[in-house]
Amino acid sequence: MQKAGAMAERKDPGASRPQAVAGQRGLLVRQILLAATLTYCAAAQSETVSFAAEVQPILTQYCVMCHVPGAAQGGHALYPDAWKSMVNVPSTQSPLLLVKPGDPAASYSFLKVTGEHLAAGGSGEIMPFPHAPLSQDEINTFRQWIEQGAEQN
Ligand code: HEC
Repeated sequence: MQKAGAMAERKDPGASRPQAVAGQRGLLVRQILLAATLTYCAAAQSETVSFAAEVQPILTQYCVMCHVPGAAQGGHALYPDAWKSMVNVPSTQSPLLLVKPGDPAASYSFLKVTGEHLAAGGSGEIMPFPHAPLSQDEINTFRQWIEQGAEQN
């Protein structure tokens, strides 16, 4: 009897082991799913910048108030169609295009907001003059959108 009791006792930890393993597997699966979800979100974020949802709001907030038809700031009106007024349009201040799809370093509008416009043969102030420069996040959004082909998306 004593022997049987000892065996029964010994059985208990063994019996609970499969549950523990299943619990660990469940945790592992959850960790994998979480990692996959985070990777997917990070990829989605850096995947495609939307002109309408991400770039236009920056222009609307910091640029359009001066660059309207009639005011002719730099001969460059960002209203009513900012995309059409920048993409493949020659700059009046430099030999560059305002936005050259795929090439931020050759896009004068981009260089105007980073302050590299003088080195590229341009003139005038860093934009949005006379306000504080755009944040690094805003500049990155603008750069990524140009790198990705400056699409009307
Ligand atoms: C307070 C008014 C004002 C604001 C705000 C402003 N600009 Fe300008 N912008 C000007 C003036 C004035 C010029 C011409 C003189 C100069 O370049 O300094 C100009 C020139 C430019 C040019 C040169 C155009 C060409 O054909 O070469 C670009 C590009 C430009 N701005 C882009 C922007 C962008 C992008 C923003 C927003 C981030 C912005 N500007 C905000 C007034 C403004």
